[in-house]
Amino acid sequence: MLNTFDVAMCAAREAGGILSHFFDEGFSVRLKGVSDLVTDADVSAERRIAAVIREAFPDHAILGEEENAGDINAEHLWVVDPLDGTTNFAHHIPHFAVSIAYLHHGKAECGVILNPIRDDLYVARRGHGATHNGKPIRVGNQQNLSEVLVGIGFAYDRGAMMEATLAAVGDCFRQQIHGVRRFGTASLDLAHVASGLYGAYFEYQLSPWDFAAGQLLVEEAGGVVTTCDGQSPPIKKTTLLASNGLLHDQLLPIVRQHMLPS
Ligand code: IPD
Ligand code: CA
Ligand code: CA
Repeated sequence: MLNTFDVAMCAAREAGGILSHFFDEGFSVRLKGVSDLVTDADVSAERRIAAVIREAFPDHAILGEEENAGDINAEHLWVVDPLDGTTNFAHHIPHFAVSIAYLHHGKAECGVILNPIRDDLYVARRGHGATHNGKPIRVGNQQNLSEVLVGIGFAYDRGAMMEATLAAVGDCFRQQIHGVRRFGTASLDLAHVASGLYGAYFEYQLSPWDFAAGQLLVEEAGGVVTTCDGQSPPIKKTTLLASNGLLHDQLLPIVRQHMLPS
């Protein structure tokens, strides 16, 4: 009998194949909102992931970005971003990923993040650590912001949230960080924290499918993930701060200060 981890891996591999195919052969792009793109690849990949999950676990709920609005309170919940980094994909930048997490009673039990172009696979299983292409990963051990890169992301917003992000970035630079990076794929940004490439990452608006797998990856790699005001992230749109743990208390006041009122 298949377990949830095997199913997550199988679904990620199949979706990765679909994304690679569209990436090589071409796709059409349309706008979901201002600057928020979607392609044929997003939809096809999510359909395949949902089919793989439903075949193995017909009674499980699926919350996917494109087509599946599963009940977030379900005992068994899959949280799926079929293509994280659509803007990169649409501009032919090979930095994007499939992100799949399985949650039991709201708690992530396993997460898989796959960049099919680079064949980069990140895996986390609760209590069993985190790996990158089969090798264990750990967050960095830097104790000062002046020793690290900080990953950031901008939601599809060109107003107050963008300004808030820029203000927080300014404050980070004033702490003498080595730099900020904005690579455009939240799940891989979290993987960079888990691997110790970034000391931290924050964004003022993410959806559960952007971070469910990555949050478990960071936690299993020894890091900390909260909202930008220090709460446990909910399974809905939220702010997010991930760090190596040692830097969390230095960053929280900065990202909290610029958060928009909810
Ligand atoms: C987006 C990416 C991006 C982040 C956005 C997300 P999508 O996901 O993860 O890095 O900054 O907030 O919405 O739309 O490409 O799946
Ligand atoms: Ca996403
Ligand atoms: Ca997406």
